[in-house]
Amino acid sequence: MPADAPLRFVILLGSLRRASFNSAIARALPGLAPPGVTIERLGSIGDFPIYDGDVEAQGLPAAAVAMAKAISGADGVIVVTPEYNYSIPGGLKNAIDWLSRVKPNPFKDKPVALQSASVGMLGGARAQYHLRMSFVMLEACVFNKPEVMVANASQKIDAKTGELADAPTREIIAAQLLAFAAFVAAHKRGALTS
Ligand SMILES: Cc1cc2nc3c(=O)[nH]c(=O)nc-3n(C[C@H](O)[C@H](O)[C@H](O)COP(=O)(O)O)c2cc1C
Repeated sequence: MPADAPLRFVILLGSLRRASFNSAIARALPGLAPPGVTIERLGSIGDFPIYDGDVEAQGLPAAAVAMAKAISGADGVIVVTPEYNYSIPGGLKNAIDWLSRVKPNPFKDKPVALQSASVGMLGGARAQYHLRMSFVMLEACVFNKPEVMVANASQKIDAKTGELADAPTREIIAAQLLAFAAFVAAHKRGALTS
């Protein structure tokens, strides 16, 4: 177990689809985490209304307040998301927009790791780079490498059980979680070099 363990990460899932490939990856994460790291799902982005400044003026939605609290209390956030039309799914961007209105900003200085899965050949890479842009505005500490971009996801997730079956994909995810845990531990010690 790393010296700074236990660490607690939370997952922000970008798909609402029942048989989502990204959801399958999210389910696999606790079993791929290094010793001393626990990983839990945040609430659903489906619980957020569409962002509207007039709605905000009447008070932040309960879903945004609750998710912001859960993010603030976690050591790190793992975003697991599809790519829609070369970018961030609208529902996920909407949730991030609401979360950015909570004070204090739950993402400020928060370690964030990115994972994506898609049926395409680039594995959601473009959504990840757009997410990185939003996280600059939010002053999050986004982890760099190894990257997790699961291409051709339908071939890597068992259609009957919904399990992430592909061994190389499991290995790269485990490697990212291990490196992310070291990144978060260094962040907690104030020892990050970048
Ligand atoms: C509106 C929409 C746009 C999409 N755009 C892309 C895209 O730009 N790149 C890509 O690789 N896949 C794209 N896809 C296909 C997704 O990779 C595929 O639907 C995937 O299963 C979604 O993730 P999920 O299984 O976690 O819901 C798109 C799907 C939808 C519904």
